Amino acid sequence: MKKKNLDWSNLGFEYIQTDKRYVSNYKDGKWDDGSLTSDANVVLNECAGVFQYAQTVFEGLKAYTTEDGRIVTFRPDLNAERMMDSAKRLEMPAFPKDRFLDAVTQTVKANAAWVPPFGSGATLYVRPYMLGSSPVIGVSPAKEYQFRILTTPVGPYFKGGAKPITIKVSDFDRAAPNGTGHIKAGLNYAMSLHAIVTAHEEGYAENMYLDAATRTKVEETGGANFVFVTKDKKIVTPKSSSILPSITRRSLLYVAKEYLGLETEEREVPLEEVPEFSECGLCGTAAVVSPVGKIVDHGKEICFASGMDEMGPVLKQLYDTLTGIQMGRIEAPKGWI
Ligand code: COI
Repeated sequence: MKKKNLDWSNLGFEYIQTDKRYVSNYKDGKWDDGSLTSDANVVLNECAGVFQYAQTVFEGLKAYTTEDGRIVTFRPDLNAERMMDSAKRLEMPAFPKDRFLDAVTQTVKANAAWVPPFGSGATLYVRPYMLGSSPVIGVSPAKEYQFRILTTPVGPYFKGGAKPITIKVSDFDRAAPNGTGHIKAGLNYAMSLHAIVTAHEEGYAENMYLDAATRTKVEETGGANFVFVTKDKKIVTPKSSSILPSITRRSLLYVAKEYLGLETEEREVPLEEVPEFSECGLCGTAAVVSPVGKIVDHGKEICFASGMDEMGPVLKQLYDTLTGIQMGRIEAPKGWI
């Protein structure tokens, strides 16, 4: 198979239309067989649930080319499960796990020419999503749904790649204690747009959201979870019922413990403890592990010992081990690849 002619090493995190996408429709209480299509457009009734009341959930995973030339995906079973949780919370039907895995495989295979080559630093981002497709005008769930998967080749999520970013403590809230922060609903991202645009205008790469109830504890950024390193090399990540349970974060905690022999803690992280950490990073499928060099809390700067030039040593070890597993350089735990 001949690869597409792209400048693989200089891709940003942007949409590039690929050849095929997967579509399955839900009607009269069941999903149809689903199929691949070349048509990148979605035609829906003007009153579809997704348009009127944002009834949509999504997932994100990646396909990688390994050193020996295979194309693999990373823990797609966890994306399938998380999408079922998301759908349930928005009163949408579950897309069965075996169907999800088969659909991911079909879509990635059909777009094999778009999977960036090994060593390019790029990957094929896979975006499964589901939307309410039938008309809704009173506030209620749609009766019909569409499950789709699109793919797009991507480079680093943050422009500078592995260069540490500066973020701000946001005055906006991302998720209420009993809201939807723990699921991957489009609405969580729509409501973050004003905050992210404002942060960018002020020169920051991202927002640090605090818990909405007390505004004293670290939550996440909206696009990624936090991971901190203590001075004695312990990995600490915030525990909260309103953050998105990142598959990357869960994998990093395992890697830290089982591959690197580091202690890990998932617990509440007060903002006032943050200056004590020696390294800070963001983790997620898109972000992988991206270093944070500085956090600005209303004019007060929190600078990490790892500095503004490169990723700190412990996060680098985590990053190298995780991406080594994803690219087939390091043996993966059973079922991860
Ligand atoms: C992902 O990491 O896959 C996400 O969905 C986050 C999004 C900000 C790109």
